[in-house]
Amino acid sequence: MISRRKFLFYIIGAFGISFFGYGFYEKKKYKIENLFVPIKKWIGNPIRIVFLTDLHRGPFTGISFLKNISDEVKKLKPDILIFGGDYIYASNNYLKDALSPFKEINPLLGKWGVLGNHDNFLGRKKVIKSLNENDVYLLNNESFKIIHGEKKIYLFGVDDLKTGNPDLNKGSKFIKDDGTIIGISHNPLFWEKVKFKTKPDLLLSGHTHGGQIDLPFLGPIFLFPSHGKKYYRGLYNLDGIKLYVSRGIGTIHIPLRIFCPPEITVINISGNRF
Ligand SMILES: [Fe+2]
Repeated sequence: MISRRKFLFYIIGAFGISFFGYGFYEKKKYKIENLFVPIKKWIGNPIRIVFLTDLHRGPFTGISFLKNISDEVKKLKPDILIFGGDYIYASNNYLKDALSPFKEINPLLGKWGVLGNHDNFLGRKKVIKSLNENDVYLLNNESFKIIHGEKKIYLFGVDDLKTGNPDLNKGSKFIKDDGTIIGISHNPLFWEKVKFKTKPDLLLSGHTHGGQIDLPFLGPIFLFPSHGKKYYRGLYNLDGIKLYVSRGIGTIHIPLRIFCPPEITVINISGNRF
C-alpha cells in the first residue's frame, strides 16, 4: 500500500504533467475570432481586415506554426492585413523568418504594422528593416488614408507605450471625420491616456496575449502588472469607442496557453451587420 504522501505526490505530478501537456497543445491550437463592426457612414461592400499580433517568432514559436497561420490568412482573403507588433522574442536573429511566411500575402489595401515593446528593446532598426523587406508599411505615429472606391479608411498607428514615444497628435494629424478611422497601438493601456480630436471607429491592440493562462474563476494568473488586467482580451467599450484586444499568436516566458488559444482576428466592416 502506498503512503498518503506518495499518493499526493503522484496526484500533483499527474496534474502537473496534464497541465503542461495541455498548455503545450493549446499554444498551437489557434482560433479564428470574427468581429463585426457596423459603421453608419460606410458605403458599398463590406471589407475584411485580418489582425495578427504578438507573433513572437522565437524559441517557443516555430516557423512551421507561423506558416500554418499564414496559410489560414491566405484562405481568409483579407482586404487589409494588420500586425500589432512584437514580431520576435528572445533575439533579433529570429527576424530572418518572423515575417517571411506573410511575404506572399498581398491584400489589395495593403499590409500595415506597429512596433511592440519586444521590437523596441530587441532591435528597433532591424525590425523596421524587416517590415520594409516584407512589404509591411510601418505606422509609427503616422496615419494613412486608404481610398477604396467611394470609401475612405484612415489607419493610424502609434509607437509602443512603455518602450517608445507614442504620439497621438502626430499619428492622427491628417485624419478627418469623412471616413472610417481605425487606430493601432501595441499596448491597449495607451488608449486610456489619450483624448481623441476625431473619434475612431475601432481601436486594435495586443500585448497581453490574453494572459496565456486564463483559468475559470481565477482569470489570467500570470499577467504581468505592466500588461494590466483591465483590457486583456476581447472587445471593450472605451467611452463609446470599440477597443479590441487580441490574444495574439505566440507565447513568451512559458511555452503554454491554457483556455487562451492563439487567435487570428477577422474584422468585418460593413454598413450593416451581415
Ligand atoms: Fe507580446
